[in-house]
Amino acid sequence: LNEIMKLNTKEAGWEPYAWYKEMRDNNPVYFDAEQEVWNVFLYDHVKQVLFDHELFSNKKQRSLIPIPDRLESRSNVNLVDPPEHRKRRALLSQAFTPRSLKEWEPRIQDIVDELIADMEGVPTVDIVQKLAIPLPVTVIADLLGVPSKDRRLIKGWSDILFLPYNTEDYADIDMRKGIAMKAFVEYLYPIVLEKRQHPEDDILSDLTKAELDGERLTDEEVVMSAIGLLGAGNETTTTLLSNIFYSMLYDQPNVYQELRSDLTLVPKLVEEVLRFRFPASMDRRVAQDTNVFGPQMKEGQAIVAWIGAANRDESQFPNAEVFDIHRPGNQRHLAFGAGPHFCLGAPLARMEANMAIASFVKRFADMDQAKGFDVGKHITESIAGMSLTSLPVVLKH
Ligand code: HEM
Repeated sequence: LNEIMKLNTKEAGWEPYAWYKEMRDNNPVYFDAEQEVWNVFLYDHVKQVLFDHELFSNKKQRSLIPIPDRLESRSNVNLVDPPEHRKRRALLSQAFTPRSLKEWEPRIQDIVDELIADMEGVPTVDIVQKLAIPLPVTVIADLLGVPSKDRRLIKGWSDILFLPYNTEDYADIDMRKGIAMKAFVEYLYPIVLEKRQHPEDDILSDLTKAELDGERLTDEEVVMSAIGLLGAGNETTTTLLSNIFYSMLYDQPNVYQELRSDLTLVPKLVEEVLRFRFPASMDRRVAQDTNVFGPQMKEGQAIVAWIGAANRDESQFPNAEVFDIHRPGNQRHLAFGAGPHFCLGAPLARMEANMAIASFVKRFADMDQAKGFDVGKHITESIAGMSLTSLPVVLKH
């Protein structure tokens, strides 16, 4: 029973990795009978669950956000399987081309520069509050084409909408989500109508124009898609940025000077953090009876693929428990998923992280841990698995 209790990442704490290892070694295909959920921990298994949509479906019972039924499958790219998925994804992808990324680069750099300028002369900065939270929400507000002055509102709504459901007060969460959703939709709707009339250079306008087989998204679908993008992109990127700083401070403190002497190492750092510190998991539903992993799984049962455990599988990453930015092939991690649902925003998240870290490293001579910081007191559960609410960093100007 203890093992079952620990299935909740939160109980395993900030370092669920010892438990992941135990499961990989002794119980890699584990059925939690109480909750009727399968759990897989090995790299190959996790990858197969993510790839094989015929065996493992993304048609989950509920979405994290209260989307009206009639819009559910058409607006949420993540809750449908191929072939419907392909069409939905192609529509969204039109707003995420390599060309758009190139065009977004200077806009993102401006936002990064502004946030770093705010740290001038400050001896200790809370990197979560001053960079990891504001950067993704400002970027996505800007790219979507909503006024950046409204980003606090947007952040507030999206935080509530994407609260995990596995907390005690289910009814209360549901009610708060309903209220936030209504306010958010009322806010976005007139903006979308305006963009349809007068398109600009932003994602909302692209979504109103995106076309496949002569079919366009309705205004409601554009609104829901935008909310989906905010949810998928905000907290995850915030977690990545916080974890990068955590790793630079605690996993490999000498890495900062190495980066300062060679900025081309920044992307390697980002990939290693994604591999090493991203304790996310994805759920699917068994779509047909199968014993691909040995035990008999029954159609309709839930299955959780533990990405954070797969990313430390020794068979793929020798010395997996060691943080090493020079590790060859670390970008084979599964932090962005794999297969048909591979993260649509991965290039954007990577770009934000690389630009933020490169600019930070260029600007500050050194940085240090804050004395007495107890990470255990600052963990919060999130759609990214776990996230930090605060991370103080001592700056050397
Ligand atoms: C899907 C992780 C940032 C948009 C996914 C999936 C993962 C993931 C694991 C796969 C879900 C599944 O298999 O069911 C991350 C991480 C991020 C990040 C770790 C940051 C470090 C973003 C950003 C955006 C975004 C910035 C957009 C603004 C999406 C979308 C999907 C997705 C739309 C659904 C794709 C589909 O179902 O076809 N992400 N994501 N993500 N992500 Fe991200």
